[in-house]
Amino acid sequence: MPRARAALDASFTTAPVPRRLFGSFVEHMGRCVYTGIYEPEHAAADADGLRSDVLELVREVGPTIVRYPGGNFVSGYDWEDGVGPVADRPRRIDRAWRTVETNAFGLDEFSRWADKAGTETMYAVNLGTRGLQEACDVLEYANHPSGTKFSDLRRSHGREQPYGIQWWCLGNEMDGPWQTGHKTALEYARLAGETARAMKQVDPSVKLVACGSSSRSMPTFGEWERVVLEECYDDVELISAHAYYEESETTPLADFLASAVDMDLFIESVAATADAVGATKKSAKKIGISFDEWNVWNQTAWNTSERAAGRTAWDVAPRVIEDEYSVTDAVVVGTLLNSLLRHGDRVLVGCQAQLVNVIGLLRSEPGGAAWKQPIALPFQEMRNRALGATILDVRTTSTTYETGRYGAVDLVDVTAVTHDDGRVTAFVANRSLDEAADVDVALGGFGPLVPGEALVLAATDGQDRWATNTADAPDAVRLRPLSGVTVEAPERPGAAAVARFQLPPLSWAVVELVPAG
Ligand code: AHR
Repeated sequence: MPRARAALDASFTTAPVPRRLFGSFVEHMGRCVYTGIYEPEHAAADADGLRSDVLELVREVGPTIVRYPGGNFVSGYDWEDGVGPVADRPRRIDRAWRTVETNAFGLDEFSRWADKAGTETMYAVNLGTRGLQEACDVLEYANHPSGTKFSDLRRSHGREQPYGIQWWCLGNEMDGPWQTGHKTALEYARLAGETARAMKQVDPSVKLVACGSSSRSMPTFGEWERVVLEECYDDVELISAHAYYEESETTPLADFLASAVDMDLFIESVAATADAVGATKKSAKKIGISFDEWNVWNQTAWNTSERAAGRTAWDVAPRVIEDEYSVTDAVVVGTLLNSLLRHGDRVLVGCQAQLVNVIGLLRSEPGGAAWKQPIALPFQEMRNRALGATILDVRTTSTTYETGRYGAVDLVDVTAVTHDDGRVTAFVANRSLDEAADVDVALGGFGPLVPGEALVLAATDGQDRWATNTADAPDAVRLRPLSGVTVEAPERPGAAAVARFQLPPLSWAVVELVPAG
């Protein structure tokens, strides 16, 4: 039977959990906006045309920040098309996804939605077909109080107060040849640097994210980050990272289950590259990482689709990459969340991609129901239980298994946080497909703890590893109580107490330990 021992100590902390680690992403793509968050004809639509059933689920899942409006879409987007009287807005070709954008929804509608969802906006500017001036214009529209062309335009559209959007992405995936306006690292670096400096002239309080790599497997990975940061180090606060994982012919299940190893390496490599650039500049500043697109996504299916091949007619809000997620995917998402959390000293923003329908946490049908996909469950749990806490520096020794891509990988993955009220919360995954794992968590330097709530997401109790949620069975996959958690008192004064539990095969769990008495 696989075994693991994780060592936690109250005095070994990494950083406060960054509030924006639990973000998501809304792109004008497929049905994420139209019939996702916005559907004026729907019975549940509110006065702004926003789906209140979807809003309710969004509030439950709780993304703390939402990146908007793209994605590949943004690299051909004219933000001005999406503001002002809807009847006057142009219909435009969206080259990225080969669809027609009606522009019925834009920055003002999104801001109303974000307010109702209780989330913060992260806005991406177009550095594909546009540049410095348009980035400054949209920033002026969003954040300048009044008395200028674009701030007064916003006011004339009914929004008196500035939105005060703090987090801005300087383009999207500009390293990717598929990106409209794709650039070399140096071309992008120059554009991003000059745009950043100009945007800070408009609003010095903004936090800017330079584009990093679209994946760790990009041929330019590493060199791209170095070149971009050499140019922009003093002008940006963060650099982005994007990663999607899948189970496919080239990525067998064993490797897929170890996707978080790739994410760990990705984050650590970007941090090392940023620090190396900082060293040559003799700078005390640390560049943060914005992991602003991550998820499980069956890209092999997408790459062979009609739309990706460009053979599909231009249409409005078609079904595009509406992946249906399983228990297996949810366990992998749980481990990806673990990876982000353990790097919370460096990853200051995380955006799961995307929020609704398009590789979505949520699904919604036009005129029909809305429900949570299984991947929303670990997201919601970690978000609710880690926010406000402090990350613990966890050292784990685990039974390993062999993967083709990453060599020997731990079967058990553990992260943990500690709360001001003395609680400790562990997030633990078992990657074994067929064996339960015995887990010991040594608790050094905490007050006396006893088992609190423990929940597990697993391929058990009649739900196989492919089980999913549907409109008819929206809660088929759910977290269930994890029984049998014990805490053994320290063997001798000064030694650590030990929490023990068993995790079912292919599972992700949250285990709370609460102060005794
Ligand atoms: O999230 C889907 C797409 O994936 C985004 O538009 C793009 O940035 C990435 O390649």
